[in-house]
Amino acid sequence: MIQARTLTDWHPASWQTRQAAQQPTYPDPEKLARAVSELSALPPIVTSWEIEALKDKLAAAQRGEAFLLQGGDCAENLADCTSDNIVQKLKILLQMSLVMLVGLKQPIIRVGRMAGQYAKPRSADLETRDGKSLPSYRGDLINRIPFTEADRAPDPELMLRAYERAALTLNFVRSLIDGGFADLHHPENWDLDFVRETEAAQEYHALVASLSSSLGVFEAIAGEPMHRTHRVEFYSSHEGLHLPYEQAQTRYLPRRQRWYNLTTHYPWIGMRTADLAGAHVEYFRGIANPMAIKIGTGVSDSHLQGLIEVLNPDNEPGRLTFITRFGAKNVEEHLPRVIRAVRATGSRVLWVCDPMHGNTESTAEGIKTRRFDNILAELRAAVRIHREAGSVLGGVHLELTGENVTECIGGARGLKESDLARAYKSTVDPRLNYEQAMEIALWFAKKGGARQPS
Ligand code: PEP
Ligand code: CO
Repeated sequence: MIQARTLTDWHPASWQTRQAAQQPTYPDPEKLARAVSELSALPPIVTSWEIEALKDKLAAAQRGEAFLLQGGDCAENLADCTSDNIVQKLKILLQMSLVMLVGLKQPIIRVGRMAGQYAKPRSADLETRDGKSLPSYRGDLINRIPFTEADRAPDPELMLRAYERAALTLNFVRSLIDGGFADLHHPENWDLDFVRETEAAQEYHALVASLSSSLGVFEAIAGEPMHRTHRVEFYSSHEGLHLPYEQAQTRYLPRRQRWYNLTTHYPWIGMRTADLAGAHVEYFRGIANPMAIKIGTGVSDSHLQGLIEVLNPDNEPGRLTFITRFGAKNVEEHLPRVIRAVRATGSRVLWVCDPMHGNTESTAEGIKTRRFDNILAELRAAVRIHREAGSVLGGVHLELTGENVTECIGGARGLKESDLARAYKSTVDPRLNYEQAMEIALWFAKKGGARQPS
């Protein structure tokens, strides 16, 4: 393990000396301090062993020897912490990872946008309706959706409620996995009732049948069941946006001589909070977790190089991921440029494509949506551009749900604008539904191998 240099000028609250973008203003600072202190006293959700194991896997993905599948809701809601929701999300991610494992012939690193994805950046601090202005809804970690003064006032108690929900979520995911739900011998556990007849489901079942027979052959040769050595693993991630929450569970582990954020395995910095001189970069530089940064068209080469210098000065393998989200229209212009800029530093990053956030648009009626064609076009371009540059696309970052929603346009079912009203549930960004998400996985399996022609 690389021993990172000891930081003498950092502590979990040193971000408070910097400009912190996208933070709410709490009406009662004492109540905030009490909630942070209560949160700090609770047990952690994840451990440094898991975090370090994930970092090793991400290092393999950087070398082109594994592939990251990161997905989940744009934002979790406290009310959606139900067994059905968690099982469905796990099912879709496991199914996709199985398809990608078979197609790419590589280990798939499964990471949910879950168990802590409760805070959202907003374009304005205030929302105005009929002449009345209230704080914008910033996610269930901060305030509530209804447009009333009481609901929109930032409430520090919500951090505790969200932390408890995050712990319940991950606890259930771990129990399902440990209990055999994710056993490769029983992929029938992951079937979703409403999709038995679709084309993607048929392709998926054919693939599972061929996997089962290969597993049988492999185990006959090896003389032991494969799951003993190849247990499915699942990690959590969220945007590390709300710094009091992240700070509260940041601990120094003397055995490792490093600080860890123990709310999640793999936090990321959103595009709006990646300012080099800002509070988020200050906080992230001191923690040992692997971390990702969202990269949009506005990022300059020197900004990227500065992020590498500050966040990964020792070029630690697996530590830094750049998630590019340029949009299908801009990926050709920007991706080759950022690959060159990073290469010039001699430092290694994991390149991941988020084909969702650069492709968001609004319909004439003001509904936020994304077109499946644009999502796939950005992915296809990213695979090709990395290959042409001698670089590796090591993962994909998606907003998806196992539910049968109608939030994104297109896909094999040809969802149209007029379908959006039917089952639009997201309170923030539009997600791929089960079939659309499986289509992306099947495309990856067939065409998206980083080194195969697409
Ligand atoms: C998100 O991932 O939901 C998000 C807000 O992304 P970005 O920071 O890339 O806009
Ligand atoms: Co989003």
